[in-house]
Amino acid sequence: MKQLGIDNFSGKRVWIIGASSGIGEACANALLKLGAKVALSSRRQERLEQIARTAKPEQTLILPLDVTIQGQMTSAHQNILKNWGGVDLLLFVSGMYVPLRADNFDIYIAEQTIDANLLGPMRAVAAVLPGMLREHAGHIAIVGSVAGYSGLPKALAYGPSKAGIINFCETLYYDLLPQGVSVHMISPGFVATEATAQNDFEMPALITADQAASEILSGIEKGEFDIHFPKRFSGFLKFLRILPYPLYFWIVRRFVKI
Ligand SMILES: NC(=O)c1ccc[n+]([C@@H]2O[C@H](COP(=O)([O-])OP(=O)(O)OC[C@H]3O[C@@H](n4cnc5c(N)ncnc54)[C@H](OP(=O)(O)O)[C@@H]3O)[C@@H](O)[C@H]2O)c1
Repeated sequence: MKQLGIDNFSGKRVWIIGASSGIGEACANALLKLGAKVALSSRRQERLEQIARTAKPEQTLILPLDVTIQGQMTSAHQNILKNWGGVDLLLFVSGMYVPLRADNFDIYIAEQTIDANLLGPMRAVAAVLPGMLREHAGHIAIVGSVAGYSGLPKALAYGPSKAGIINFCETLYYDLLPQGVSVHMISPGFVATEATAQNDFEMPALITADQAASEILSGIEKGEFDIHFPKRFSGFLKFLRILPYPLYFWIVRRFVKI
């Protein structure tokens, strides 16, 4: 059994959470151009309004929310149901990253990171699941990171939050495949966005947000579960994680300035 893709985005009801900048904004722009109906969510309402101005008024809904607040997630979803009757694709892109190492490990930032990056997607999935299961249709796409594959330096909270996304998607897949609902686990390498603009090192295999959006939409179109890019980088990290730990740690220490 193979999960379904989306062969034509025109008219599809897409809910993008984390649509105000970077990868999410690029996905929103691409989907609007393809004729999808896009519900735009994140905290910065003015940025969402700017994106909506490029499309026809009936093509967008602006639903500001903070992914850490359950009530805001639920009411945004209710708003989509009221206006459009359902969601064909949930595209959860939102995420936060604060570099954390042992010498600045801060439990408050760790809690915020897990709340936003792991519980946030779970809240969104909990909202759309009943409708998708009832219809035996729909797509759930969640942006994780190659940083979730195995431990990397400076990611004491971000890494575990993204590792959790991988496990969450894998586990969802068992239940949803027989129900006709597709799961797309998205693992980007380095993408030039506001989030990475603060990085003080040269990012290998860096791609643009538009390139990332095109990889994501093409993977969803084909019905892929494991959407990872750019392959020259994500493929290398996939290979590293199957190595024995002494070799893995040695290679990471060599490549990353620690
Ligand atoms: N850029 C990379 O190299 C890279 C690599 C691997 C994975 N990723 C992942 O890709 C995703 C997008 O990252 P990006 O690089 O495009 O970063 P970005 O430009 O900083 O975008 C992050 C998005 O998340 C939203 N967001 C953050 N916290 C939120 C909250 N509590 N509630 C609602 N929305 C929230 C932001 O909107 P508001 O501020 O308006 O709320 C924004 O739309 C993240 O999950 C990130 O971990 C990025």
